[in-house]
Amino acid sequence: MGGVKETIKFPYPAFYFKNNSLFLLDQTKLPQEINYLEIKDLSDLIKVIKELKVRGAPLIGVVAGYGVYLLSQKIEENLKETLLSAIFQLKNTRPTAKNLFYVLDSLEEIIKKEKDPQKIKEKIKKKVFYFHKKEIDNCLKIAKYGDRLIPKKAKILTICNTGHLATGGLGTALGIIFYSAKKGKKITCYICETRPLFQGARLTTFEILNSSLKNIKPILITDNMVGSIMKDMDLVLVGADRVALNGDTANKIGTKTLAICAKYYKKPFYVACPTSTIDRNIKSGKEIKIEERDKEEIIKIKDYYLAPKEIECYNPAFDITENKLITAIITEKGIIYPPFKKGLLKIFDII
Ligand code: MRU
Repeated sequence: MGGVKETIKFPYPAFYFKNNSLFLLDQTKLPQEINYLEIKDLSDLIKVIKELKVRGAPLIGVVAGYGVYLLSQKIEENLKETLLSAIFQLKNTRPTAKNLFYVLDSLEEIIKKEKDPQKIKEKIKKKVFYFHKKEIDNCLKIAKYGDRLIPKKAKILTICNTGHLATGGLGTALGIIFYSAKKGKKITCYICETRPLFQGARLTTFEILNSSLKNIKPILITDNMVGSIMKDMDLVLVGADRVALNGDTANKIGTKTLAICAKYYKKPFYVACPTSTIDRNIKSGKEIKIEERDKEEIIKIKDYYLAPKEIECYNPAFDITENKLITAIITEKGIIYPPFKKGLLKIFDII
């Protein structure tokens, strides 16, 4: 790998364990405050996921898994019922990101199949730690594949946050950028601020500036600048929350605008995600449930109202980028080019 040191130390981990408790970095406070929240019970975890204090498709899956594991350690009676109810509630927090369901479905299967409570606890522990390690490994594999698509000197446009704070590992789209920069490529990374919750402005800028990688120059833009800067970009690189079998991709609202502009200016548009984000049970993006969030996120910043309180709003958290707008999907199993269905079925060993 040309002497590349493959890991980047993140000075502020997305989460950590202490005395068998889970502590999560409150992402809503970044970049102003570094504040870790102790997750004491299931209701704490549900609240932080719903409020996006922890977010990003792979990270939500891992953290929800750890939540079920910690809960299992505390329960003496009605283990199966309590855990299945917890899983049901966790699944109701955020409907779009596949990774949450990927982890929870697998834990649900263990609980339903296994009779012995002690074995349930052991199997859950093993599975959750495995999922976490796998997401970290997958990020690095995605980065290595993605690096093949990055020129020595590149202007890259991205949206939202797809780094350590969204995965617990190196990241997906941002992981590729980190990896290529570490390898010596010179990257100017244009970051959409990502209205309404500013994950680009608050989190991606924070991560890049704290990575101490000299080869990445982050430039923050407002979302409405995309059309005017696209002609100067070399490529667009984004993450994903759920990918359908035909390649249609749900990602942060605004992603589709980037894809349409990229197509117009003939720029490559790449999606980076682990296979845990791919939903092989759905044929197209039409079947993806898009999370709609509270209008307060649009009309208010902290306590300041930007718009009249009574105004009606529409606040979908994600949009669907149609497969025909996507140049390639970068996964830990390789780079998939259109027709995506064939490529995706192949990596799942279905054909
Ligand atoms: O609402 P969020 O902040 O959870 O949305 C996150 C995104 O849309 C990311 O792009 C996606 O989860 C990919 S993260 C590797």
